[in-house]
Amino acid sequence: MKSKSVIDFFMQKRGWSEVKDLLLSWYLTPYLAKVFSVAKNFYFIDGFSGPGLFDDGKKGSPEIENDLIKKAYESTNNSTVKYSLICVEKNKILFDRLTNNLKENKNVKCINDDIELLLPNLIQNLEKNSFVFIYLDPFGINGLPSNLITLCNARKDLKIELLINFNSSGCYRECMRLLGNTAYNDFFDENEYLSDKNSSHERMNCLLGTKKWTDVAGDAKAEYLLSQYFSDNLRKAFKYVLNMPIRNIKNDMVKYRMIFCSNNIDGALLMADNMLRRSNNAKNSLFSLDIEGNIVDVTKEVETILDFVPNTNENPIRLNQLILSFYEKKGVVCSPKDLIDYLKMKERNNEIVVIRYPERSAKGKFTTFWSESNKKTVKILKKIGI
Ligand SMILES: C[S@@+](CC[C@H](N)C(=O)[O-])C[C@H]1O[C@@H](n2cnc3c(N)ncnc32)[C@H](O)[C@@H]1O
Repeated sequence: MKSKSVIDFFMQKRGWSEVKDLLLSWYLTPYLAKVFSVAKNFYFIDGFSGPGLFDDGKKGSPEIENDLIKKAYESTNNSTVKYSLICVEKNKILFDRLTNNLKENKNVKCINDDIELLLPNLIQNLEKNSFVFIYLDPFGINGLPSNLITLCNARKDLKIELLINFNSSGCYRECMRLLGNTAYNDFFDENEYLSDKNSSHERMNCLLGTKKWTDVAGDAKAEYLLSQYFSDNLRKAFKYVLNMPIRNIKNDMVKYRMIFCSNNIDGALLMADNMLRRSNNAKNSLFSLDIEGNIVDVTKEVETILDFVPNTNENPIRLNQLILSFYEKKGVVCSPKDLIDYLKMKERNNEIVVIRYPERSAKGKFTTFWSESNKKTVKILKKIGI
């Protein structure tokens, strides 16, 4: 992608960009309400901002974030919370447009810089114990900070969540370029690809956390494997890493993947639900497509949740943890409700033990709830022999 095309990209917003916006805005609404009720400081870092507004009048990520943050701030009772929206844009023309579009907002800081170079300094200087949401939406994988894990691990006091547009097919192309393999050039969409001028074997090793990328040429699952390496690497800094492919409607190929990272179980469950709703396949049918586009027998998949339940002689697993363990291994193939309905049936058949706290209601009856909160827990065990 040439510099002129970077500007042209913002002439008109395309369909797949809207999926990204939906995923971001649907999640941010409940997330911000929660964060503003408990935080002292909140930072939103948009590392690849663009100009804020497309030429067709549609809002870009900085405007969407700014609207949602302002709304959440105005609705909170927490008068001490401070926030800052930090938008970083490397291209000077787009940066000038961004500054102009957001100039009336005193909590917004626009920076004309390269996020990869700036991020270490930015993260290092954030107020202790702050909540931080980082959104990274590059072209290709150009400029995607390869040292994210080190940066996040160095600030364990921060409550960081990350949403990354990982251009997995762009990553594949970049891998092939590094290996000097031109056989796959026709396979990629020139309009969406920005060659990664800084790329090197070392940078790719660091970004993917492994050297296995050198073996993926020609593998039918190359795109999937690269996104798995990338996600596994992020797991070195985050407990929960979820991944949603966005497909090109014309050829059904994965265009990019939205990857979400968090250390917060509620956030991860919320995003899993969000991803399922955004995928085209959230229909309630026996056979469906999972978010990888594979045909799955939902009933069969749901049954495998028991593989994640410990036996009676082990430590029980919390319900929310169980659902996330399933999603991380199996992908977001069904709703939490499908899983809970199955577990309810297993409880009725006496095949699992469900330990609830509180065990009894105020009226002294045994409780039967299937959700967790600060005051309610559900722990599960499998009966031996099941
Ligand atoms: C895909 S666009 C982002 C679109 C934006 N998120 C939106 O929804 O409107 C990527 C943007 O990042 C900018 N960019 C590219 N490399 C960058 C880097 N290393 N640091 C900061 N910005 C960069 C590009 O100029 C472009 O405006």
